[in-house]
Amino acid sequence: MGLARQRVAALFGAAPHEVIFTGGGSEANNLAIKGIASKFGAPGDQLICSAVEHPSVAESHQFLVRQGYRLTIVPVDRDGRVDPAHVAAALTGRTILVSIMHANNEVGTLQPIRAIAHLVHARGGLLHTDAAQTVGKVPVTRDMLDADLISIAGHKFSAPMGVGALIVRSGIQLERGRTRRRTPGRHGKCPGTGRARGGRCLGGVPPTGVSGPDRRPAR
Ligand SMILES: Cc1ncc(COP(=O)(O)O)c(C=O)c1O
Repeated sequence: MGLARQRVAALFGAAPHEVIFTGGGSEANNLAIKGIASKFGAPGDQLICSAVEHPSVAESHQFLVRQGYRLTIVPVDRDGRVDPAHVAAALTGRTILVSIMHANNEVGTLQPIRAIAHLVHARGGLLHTDAAQTVGKVPVTRDMLDADLISIAGHKFSAPMGVGALIVRSGIQLERGRTRRRTPGRHGKCPGTGRARGGRCLGGVPPTGVSGPDRRPAR
C-alpha cells in the first residue's frame, strides 16, 4: 500500500501522506467539497463551481446549499470554458472553496485552473479540481494546476472501477466520514480492505491476498 501511495503521489508531484484513496472519482469529489465545508465552513459561507461540473460535484454542492451554504455557479462559454474573470467577480471574503473541473467529460475543454487558483488564493479560498478526465491523458501535476485538492478516478487510467483518490495539499484538514457508495470492499461500504486493494491497483502495485491466476502459489 505504501508503494502505491508513493506512486500516486509521484504522479502529481505530491507527498505520499497527501494521498487519500477513495472508492472512485465521485467519492473523491464528495470528500473534497463536503470535507472542506465541514472543517472550514459554516452556513452562510460561499461555494463556487462551474455550470458543467460532474453530478458528484453538483450534488455535493446542492447538499451543502440545503445546509445553508451559498452557492454561485459560474457560466461557461460556447466551448465549455470558464472565464477566470467570472470567478473573480463571484469571489467574496466568505468564499471557502471553488471547484472547477480540469476537463469537461462531455466536450473535453481544459479549464484555466492555474489562473483560477491564483484568484481564489488571493481571496483566501481553496481550489478543488476534478481531474478525472485528464490524469493519464495530459500532463497533470499539482504545480501546474496549483490546486489544493485534486480528484482522480482510477477507471479513467487503467485501474478498475470503484477506485480513486483525492490529493490534498499538506496542512489542509478535511472532515472525513463514511460514505455509502459501492466500492470493491465488502458490504457495499468503504472498508479498509477495499480501499487497500483499490489503492494498490491505482498505484500499479499487484494486490495481495487476492486469488487469481497470477497469485496462485507455485506447485
Ligand atoms: C469528470 C468526472 N468526474 C468524476 C467522475 C466519477 O468517477 P467515478 O466513476 O470513479 O466515481 C467521472 C466519471 O466518469 C468523470 O468523468
